Amino acid sequence: MQHLVIAIDGPAASGKSSVSRALAQRLHYTLVNTGVMYRAVTWYVLQSKVEPSDAKAVEELLQNASIECGARDGQSFFHINGSDGGDALVSPAVNASVSKIASQTYVRRKLVEMQRCYARNYHLVMEGRDIGTAVFPDTPYKFYIDASPEVRASRRSGQGLHDSVVQRDAMDSSRKDSPLMIAPDAEVIDTSFMSLDDVVSAVLKRLHQRGVLPSGA
Ligand code: CDP
Ligand code: CDP
Repeated sequence: MQHLVIAIDGPAASGKSSVSRALAQRLHYTLVNTGVMYRAVTWYVLQSKVEPSDAKAVEELLQNASIECGARDGQSFFHINGSDGGDALVSPAVNASVSKIASQTYVRRKLVEMQRCYARNYHLVMEGRDIGTAVFPDTPYKFYIDASPEVRASRRSGQGLHDSVVQRDAMDSSRKDSPLMIAPDAEVIDTSFMSLDDVVSAVLKRLHQRGVLPSGA
């Protein structure tokens, strides 16, 4: 059976996770937040006292770790040596180093391979930076969720989180390996002046027009 992938990409704090969660619930698809995977690797590197910019040492560390991913009841999980990192994944320390770790080719190769495995078993809503451009370039269902830098910074601080979204975007957009960019065939939605419900409705409407219905419907 062919599994469908809805790719949701965009810059930091544009609303990707919130939109993807609602879409996955409405469609009864499995939700995969790939940012969590890069954040968990970063947390593990920092915890292991490995220098985040030392790509060789990061690669060695990961080769010796037990890394598992999967899904239960529509929710994906990602564990390194049995831990998901918990609240530390959104800590200022992880925010400050995640783009550096995510620019490393070994890290991307390893995580992209795991991300592709999900499509063997499930219909997916997968969110990240490179889902429509690099992970599943052939999926016909791609959305790029955007918002102005000011709106995004205020959305993130509204969550009570300390995060320099502009700096992270600059690094994510300028890295050599699968940078953040708009896939030529993605539908771009500027959500700066839209409520979350409006964004979810707009994406669902587009998907319904293209024949994508809730799983099991
Ligand atoms: O939630 P937010 O948009 O702030 O970030 P995230 O989706 O949790 O992603 C954290 C970081 O992981 C990003 O800033 C990227 O450096 C990296 N990332 C990536 O390189 N590729 C992805 N597919 C997802 C995240
Ligand atoms: O995953 P990403 O970092 O792109 O963003 P998020 O964590 O889903 O959203 C950041 C915050 O913006 C959350 O508190 C959302 O409820 C809020 N948001 C909003 O106020 N209006 C939207 N249209 C989208 C998100």
